[in-house]
Amino acid sequence: MADKNKEKIIVKQIKDIKPLASELKRIYLDAYQEDYLYAYRDPGRVKRYLKWLIKHADGGFFVAFDGEHPVGFIVVEANCRFQGEQVPEIHELVVDPAYQGRGLGKLLMKTALEYLKNKGFKKVALWVGEKNESAQRFYECLGFRVTSRQGAWLRMEKDLQEELSSAKISSKVSKTEKASTTSERSMSSSGV
Ligand SMILES: CC(C)(COP(=O)(O)OP(=O)(O)OC[C@H]1O[C@@H](n2cnc3c(N)ncnc32)[C@H](O)[C@@H]1OP(=O)(O)O)[C@@H](O)C(=O)NCCC(=O)NCCS
Repeated sequence: MADKNKEKIIVKQIKDIKPLASELKRIYLDAYQEDYLYAYRDPGRVKRYLKWLIKHADGGFFVAFDGEHPVGFIVVEANCRFQGEQVPEIHELVVDPAYQGRGLGKLLMKTALEYLKNKGFKKVALWVGEKNESAQRFYECLGFRVTSRQGAWLRMEKDLQEELSSAKISSKVSKTEKASTTSERSMSSSGV
């Protein structure tokens, strides 16, 4: 990581993951440790999973960049249904371990929630492994609450009218950036 880029994290909406696939795969494999129960470990399987994510995201795939390098990503699918109701779901959120604890997870979440709010949704949900207590605490910090369970998975939901409840993110994360291309819109956090 170049020192000059340390202070500048930009979040972009991604429509094509091909140019980023190997770096996103590396982040995913690094973020989920060897003993982690709920993630894919086989690189080929992770590649297929990334393809599945981009297909289902339909615009809801956001990547955080430090300079040219991806350092985390979040994927949301708007067209999900649960118990007869359309509720968007966050399918994936990972931050490169070298960048964790600096507000990137929250920045990515804020970007995804703003995207959903702009589409008129009132609620968002996700599924988290019952033993992934660290991620549960992170989501609780941001205002998600457990609403149901299916096997080893807990469903957590958040009202999109509520602000992200935890405190401000690290000042190391930049606030705004203009769009660089038409297909990859730079997004960023207002107010974080
Ligand atoms: C979960 C994850 C995305 C969090 O990303 P991050 O960039 O480290 O989180 P942030 O720095 O943005 O933290 C945001 C807030 O959550 C809090 N938080 C983060 N992780 C936490 C934890 N394990 N326990 C308690 N609070 C936590 C932070 O203290 C911070 O609070 P603040 O805003 O009041 O300072 C990251 O740890 C990760 O990639 N984990 C591995 C993959 C994973 O488990 N994904 C979720 C699958 S469901």
